[in-house]
Amino acid sequence: VDIRDLSNAAPDTIATLGHLFDDAAVPTASRRFGDDPNHHLLVAFVEDTPAGFISGVEMTHPDKGTEMFVYELGVDEPFRRRRIGTALVEALVAKARSLGCFGMWVATDADNEAALGTYRAGGSGEPEHQVVLTWTFDTSAGPDGAANLHT
Ligand SMILES: CC(C)(COP(=O)(O)OP(=O)(O)OC[C@H]1O[C@@H](n2cnc3c(N)ncnc32)[C@H](O)[C@@H]1OP(=O)(O)O)[C@@H](O)C(=O)NCCC(=O)NCCS
Repeated sequence: VDIRDLSNAAPDTIATLGHLFDDAAVPTASRRFGDDPNHHLLVAFVEDTPAGFISGVEMTHPDKGTEMFVYELGVDEPFRRRRIGTALVEALVAKARSLGCFGMWVATDADNEAALGTYRAGGSGEPEHQVVLTWTFDTSAGPDGAANLHT
């Protein structure tokens, strides 16, 4: 397995990885992702075939410093159970450490045994029992605008 860092890849390159994502890559989102130095994308290749990926986001808080958030992890079905997921987690840990992050974290479904097993194999910390809440906005008509937090 060859793990390549495609964090700064152009949208055309990211489009070739679409089969690994939940949905096809969107060019504007791919460009924004690639242009942002806090976004990371590591891709595992098996004989030049993209077989899996892990994405991460560096998050910084004034009183804490910077940590890595594991945004997504996925291995294409034919390549599963070959320790590719574990290798991707370990590669992101190594990158986070090299960037000076103080830690890494991920949220996953409590019954996702494959993910839990992989994070454990990749040296995760202890599970914490927290609840994740999500807000979903309708962006079909563009951003709402006008939210000036400085006034
Ligand atoms: C989770 C996922 C990335 C794991 O990738 P993988 O390359 O198959 O994982 P690994 O081979 O590194 O597995 C490491 C360990 O995790 C555990 N594990 C992996 N898949 C498992 C499964 N289907 N059932 C139970 N345990 C599993 C095993 O302990 C395994 O070690 P072993 O094979 O020596 O027994 C892959 O199953 C996947 O893409 N799932 C769908 C997407 C997803 O759920 N992503 C996580 C979202 S947070």
